[in-house]
Amino acid sequence: MSDQPLVQPVSTVTLTFNDTNETIELPVLKGTDGHMGIDIRKLYDKTGFITYDPGFTSTGSCYSGITYIDGDNGILLYRGYPIQQLAEKSDFIESSYLLINGELPSKEEKADFAHRITRHTMVHEQLSDFYRGFRRGAHPMAIMVGVVGALSAFYHDSLDIDDHEQRDVAAHRLIAKMPTLAAMAYKYSLGQPFIYPQNKLSLVENFLNMMFAVPCEPYELNPVMVNAMDKILLLHADHEQNASTSTVRLAGSSRANPFACIASGIAALWGPAHGGANEAVLNMLQEIGDKSQIKKYVERAKDKNDSFRLMGFGHRVYKNYDPRASVMRKTCHDVLNQLGIKEPLLELAMELERVALEDDYFVERKLYPNVDFYSGIIFRAMGIPTSMFTVIFAVARTVGWIAQWREMIEDPSQKIGRPRQLYTGSPLRDYVPINKR
Ligand code: ACO
Repeated sequence: MSDQPLVQPVSTVTLTFNDTNETIELPVLKGTDGHMGIDIRKLYDKTGFITYDPGFTSTGSCYSGITYIDGDNGILLYRGYPIQQLAEKSDFIESSYLLINGELPSKEEKADFAHRITRHTMVHEQLSDFYRGFRRGAHPMAIMVGVVGALSAFYHDSLDIDDHEQRDVAAHRLIAKMPTLAAMAYKYSLGQPFIYPQNKLSLVENFLNMMFAVPCEPYELNPVMVNAMDKILLLHADHEQNASTSTVRLAGSSRANPFACIASGIAALWGPAHGGANEAVLNMLQEIGDKSQIKKYVERAKDKNDSFRLMGFGHRVYKNYDPRASVMRKTCHDVLNQLGIKEPLLELAMELERVALEDDYFVERKLYPNVDFYSGIIFRAMGIPTSMFTVIFAVARTVGWIAQWREMIEDPSQKIGRPRQLYTGSPLRDYVPINKR
């Protein structure tokens, strides 16, 4: 492992310890966006000091060339391309190729990539036995954590992380099998038979077919739903070093196999402060119930003695409108119009957004709707149950997790992730026998 930074230092900062007047010079690194980072890797060795940053709000854990976010200006780029352009002109498969390989594919490269993914959509037949071991009412995310981790028990020929080709195969397998596993989790909760993937269908068509088709009658794919699902997957595909991606990287830094790493990402995504938020948004809108109740709930969200928060509002990085939320808002209107659905929750959501964005509390803290604010309403219109929302997020984010995991494996400066701590426990003491306590 090399200690040489991929980016050469552009300057230094000097840290002075006021107690001793000692100083230490630390290199300053500059990203392509102009942001500066202080390279503190030698800090502990040279001084015995560590940095304290719970939640990693000021800590960069890696170099990355995949996704860029400018939270103050509401900008999100995949490999340099604005998310709005990709949502309008690209599709999930093409954007997946872009995230993983760094460049947009040629026509042939795209067709080849789509073909490879299609050829990996089926899962080992014995994997379906795993599902039968879960309680029927199990949350599909609980099932996903288990079965995705279990993939490493089935695909031994793609576990060698030092072999470039095996990394490729594992990546294709994960992207291809996630929709199949997700649809199986849904079918299991309904007590319906699993539907096999069909190679004549695209990844998104297959996903919807495996979720909604039944063996006893034909299922007609609705292009409005196919298009909306494609957009949702594309918008959620990557988001730089968020909690679940950092979890995947941390697990991967110990050289765990890719299937285990992605399972750890699914576990981290599950929480309501992260991927579980769209499920929480819909529950919140249902709880609010009526426009007349909005003011009361906004007051509760502002009250520090009340644990209630406006779900779908606020973001660690965006201090402006989440660019994905704007696309999602429009998609939401399009889907409801095209499907001819009148959804009172959408009206409620828009009014809640209006009230919150005019409130000083939200304005001062720069709390804007995030991507999850509207996605739950689209899912509901598509007939997708709340418990599947985060699972679909996991299907999309698998692409980003893989791209980030591969980047980490191929980065010579990466080491096992091992944060330090400020110890606040008892000083050294002697063991006291139980009869003397
Ligand atoms: N409702 C009410 N107040 C809020 C909210 C909210 N949704 N979000 C933040 N605040 C307040 C905080 O109480 C804090 O106030 P203070 O400065 O008076 O103490 C201030 O805004 C800053 O918030 P933090 O919690 O410090 O911000 P942080 O970056 O740690 O949290 C988070 C970001 C977790 C997303 C938070 O905004 C939140 O819980 N939002 C609701 C859950 C949600 O929608 N999550 C989805 C995130 S997007 C995704 O994962 C795809």
